[in-house]
Formats: sequence, structure tokens, C-alpha cells
Amino acid sequence: MNSFNDAIAQAVAATGAFELEQAKKLITVPTDTEHGNFTLPCFVLARSLHKAPKVIAEELAPKIELPNGICKVEAVAGYLNFFIDRKFLAKSILEAVFSQGLEYGHAESNGKVVCMDYSSPNIGKELAFHHLRSTMIGNSLARIYKAAGYKVVRINHLGDWGTAFGKLIVMYLREKRPTDQATLDSLTVKELNILYASFSKAAEAEPGLEDEARAAFSKLEKGDDFYHQLWLAFRAATLKELMRIYKMMGVDFDYYTGESFYEDKMPAVIQDLEAKGLLERSEERDVVKLDEYKLNPCLIRKSDGSTLYATRDLAAAIYRKKEYNFDKSLYVVDLGQALHFKQVKLVLKKMGYNWHDTLVHIPFGVILNLIDGKWEKGKTRTGKAKLLRDVIEAAQQKILDFINQKNPELENKELIAQQIGISALTFNDLKNHRLMDVKFDWDSALSFEGATGPYVQNAHVRLCSIMRKAGYDVTLQDVNFDQLLDDAAYELIKLLAKKSEKILKACETDEPCELAQYALDIAGAAHKFIHDDRVLGSAEEKSRLFLVKCTQIILEDVLVLLGLFPVRNM
Ligand code: ARG
Repeated sequence: MNSFNDAIAQAVAATGAFELEQAKKLITVPTDTEHGNFTLPCFVLARSLHKAPKVIAEELAPKIELPNGICKVEAVAGYLNFFIDRKFLAKSILEAVFSQGLEYGHAESNGKVVCMDYSSPNIGKELAFHHLRSTMIGNSLARIYKAAGYKVVRINHLGDWGTAFGKLIVMYLREKRPTDQATLDSLTVKELNILYASFSKAAEAEPGLEDEARAAFSKLEKGDDFYHQLWLAFRAATLKELMRIYKMMGVDFDYYTGESFYEDKMPAVIQDLEAKGLLERSEERDVVKLDEYKLNPCLIRKSDGSTLYATRDLAAAIYRKKEYNFDKSLYVVDLGQALHFKQVKLVLKKMGYNWHDTLVHIPFGVILNLIDGKWEKGKTRTGKAKLLRDVIEAAQQKILDFINQKNPELENKELIAQQIGISALTFNDLKNHRLMDVKFDWDSALSFEGATGPYVQNAHVRLCSIMRKAGYDVTLQDVNFDQLLDDAAYELIKLLAKKSEKILKACETDEPCELAQYALDIAGAAHKFIHDDRVLGSAEEKSRLFLVKCTQIILEDVLVLLGLFPVRNM
């Protein structure tokens, strides 16, 4: 639709009345299409031309040479209203969708690289429900950026280093668990979860335990072989389960370079900080002060020599810049870490890295669960947090119950139920602006009506099912575009034409909800078209079937860009 805007601006500028850029900026899309599809107010010219806007518009209208695809211009009360030629629009858009397929609306490569750090859970424990947010927002943004022309480097900055591992080691040894390799190899994340919980419990009664854990981590960091062996086993056990869940969710990364990966890269960073005179002693720790920004100091190294979260993020940022030469580096991490990312950026600035500003924290709100009548943020330590795998399983089961009622013969119904269930959870997370908290409740997330995953999935399934029932494949030669001019078809085609604009908007604002809303709009317009314009058995069957096919293609890709599974049958 942007190309219409530009073409109209050019035609108007050719009359000499408007500057090209000025016209581009002034043209808007009125909500009521009775006043045209595009409108240009002439008020700005009144002063220089010493004429009433109404007169200006009336004089200009006949002088404008209508660009391709615009069939009429009307002067009304100081506005120039332009009308799209429905047939031209239908033909140009649907031909393009048909020839470009799923890629329609994707941008050409812009030669830019973006690093995307998402999901990045702390391992040693299982994924909790709240990990869904970073995972799915990041997964979707990675796909959106790629569609917008970027080269995307997808990074999982696993929390696989730090005091948490000291805790696990202390508890493992205290419980005198066997440390032979075979036992270590068979460890599961469930056992680690229990271990972690018992540490927290024991530490409440015995405050000295926290110090022991810190000491254990420090020993690990100094290269103790035995501790390293334990750590490796803990890491492997969690990673195995993590990969199982990512695979189920359709989530992917290029690198699993967690915090431990930067262990050998930190000394150089600390040296650099020292050489630049930025490292100061404060309360027995080495810090970089940020007083001039009215921020707390960034902690770099503890008194026992062990490093911290920020140290590893500094090393990671510098490594990524060197390795991938990114134009932009995104961190999809909850709002609670805003200060941390501010500190990291400012330390990089003080170190003289002029690219510090290309690091962007993409924060998001929390998931709230209804616990005892109150909306609460689940916590692992209280044991109240829901595990992501439990939520996925429950979603799958609920959808399966539904399928068993409606369509018990469906092939592969377990897998389809799982995919619809995961998609429903994802959509529920992505449908609003990411900074909003997500109030999670089963009924609204899994409903087949309203702004939900199942609703958009169902629209896609209906389109697929019409194509299946037709029993043949339509192509361009089958289409008579004069049969696609009614309101329901036209509204749908206008929406399809917006795909590239929506992708770019989602990318510029880092908001997958732009595409979630778009998917809802397409689903609504598709339902209306199918309802108003009977497809199968009508005189216009082939033309309408072609529009069904093009809509299915667009919707499928939009679902994929959101990280949903475009299920074809349910
Ligand atoms: N592991 C961290 C957490 O669970 C998130 C890491 C985000 N990425 C980063 N580069 N700091 O809170």
C-alpha cells in the first residue's frame, strides 16, 4: 500500500502545487473508505496561493494524471480523495503473492547484522512458565528481523556459570551422592531442581551455607577438576531437557554460548578496565563507578576474585562485536534487568566503545498467574512456579479433549493438539505490547473465539480445508479478477497488501504484537469473505479459491513469523 502512497505523491507533485516529500507526509488513509482510500488535505497551500482550500482542491483535481491503480480523484471540502481501482489492486497483489509465496512481503537483504540474545535461562533448573516470554518474543523477533532483511545471529546466553552452581555442588556433596561418571551421566534436571530447592531450604536455617556456595563457585572458577566435572554433568543434564522443550516449541538458536563461554575472555576485559583506570575498590569489590549517571556502580569482581553477571555480559558484548560485527544487538530480557543493561552499556561507553548505543534492551512485563484469587508472579523458590513443560502438557490435553469431542478421527491428533496448545500459549504472550504484564488464564488463552491463538489457527485451518475439499490446485490462469471486486474480497485483499508494512513496523518497534494483530485482522476478514462469498460450488469458484489460497499463504507465513505452528487440520 506504500507504493500507492508514493505514486499519488508523485502525481500530485507533478502538478507543481506540492513538494514531493511534503505530499508524501500529508497523504493519509481515511478510516471511512467512502472518502477514498487515500486523502490529501490542501490546507497548507491556502496561505501561499491566497485561495480557499476548497478552491485549491477543485482546481488541482482535473490537473492530476492518475497513477496506475488509482481510478478516481475527487475534490471535497479542501481535500483530494483518491480511489483505488479494485481490479488493479486484486490483480497486482494476488499475482505477487502467488509468484512469491511465503516470502511475499519480506524485504531484500539490507546487509545489516543483528544479534539477538533471548530465552537465556539459568540452567541447573527446569524452564519455568515465565521463561516463555523471553523465548517466544525473541523467537518471533528473530524471524521478523530476518523477514525485514537482516542477518540474524540467534544466541542463547545460558546462565551456566555463577554461584548457583556453587549451591548445586555444595548440596550434591553434602547429600553424599555418588560421583562416578555413570551416575553423573544419568543425572536429570528434575534431581537438580530438588537439589536446588533443598539448598534454599537448608540455607534458611544455616546462613553459612551461602558462603560455602560462593566458595565452591570460586573454586570452580579457579579451575578445580573435580568441581568442573560436576559442573559439566549439571550442565549436560539441564541442556538435554532444555533442547527437548525448544524442539517441541519450534525454537532455535545459532549459538548456545552461555556465561561459561566467556570465562577465558574475562581477564582481558578486566585488564582493559584496569588499564583505562576505570576499576575501583569499593566494599572489597572491584567496580566501575557510574556516579556521573546517578547509577550504582557496576560490579566486576568479588573479593575472592570471582566474576559477576555484568563482567560476563561485558565480555560477551565485546566478543559479539568482534565476531559478528553487529549493527544492533538485542537483549530480550525482563524489565527487572533494566538497570543491569544500562550499567553494561555505560561501562562500554566509558571503555571507549562507540558502539555501546547499538546494544538494545528489549524488556517485557511478567506473566501473572491467578493464585488463591490473586494475580501473582510465580517464584521458583516458593515452589509455586509453574514449570513450562507442565503448562504445555496441560494446554495439549485441553486441546486434545476438544478434538476428541469434535473430530476424534483426526490423524496425528496428539501432535496437532500439542502444536495448537503451544501456539495458543505463544499467541497469548505476543498479542499485547510486550511491556504489558500477561494475565494468564486457561479459558481466555485456549478459547476458539476472541483474540486467541486457536481463533487464528482455526481461520488457517478453514482456508486449508476449503482448498482440500476443492480437490484441485488453482493457478493464475483460472482467475477472473472481475469476480473479486465485492466488498468482502476487496477488504481481504487490501489487508494482504499490508504484509510488508506490518513486518517493517513490527521490526522497527520490536513489537511482535503488530503481527499478532495483523493475523487477527486477516482471520476476521477471511472468515467474513468465506461467509459472504460462498467459494465451493459457486459460479466464481476458481477465482474465489485463488483468493483463499493467497490468503492461506499470507496467514501461514504470519503465523510462522509469530512462532506459531500453522496447523492445516484440526
Ligand atoms: N540468565 C539470565 C536470567 O535468567 C538472563 C540472561 C539474559 N542475557 C544476557 N546477556 N544477560 O535472568
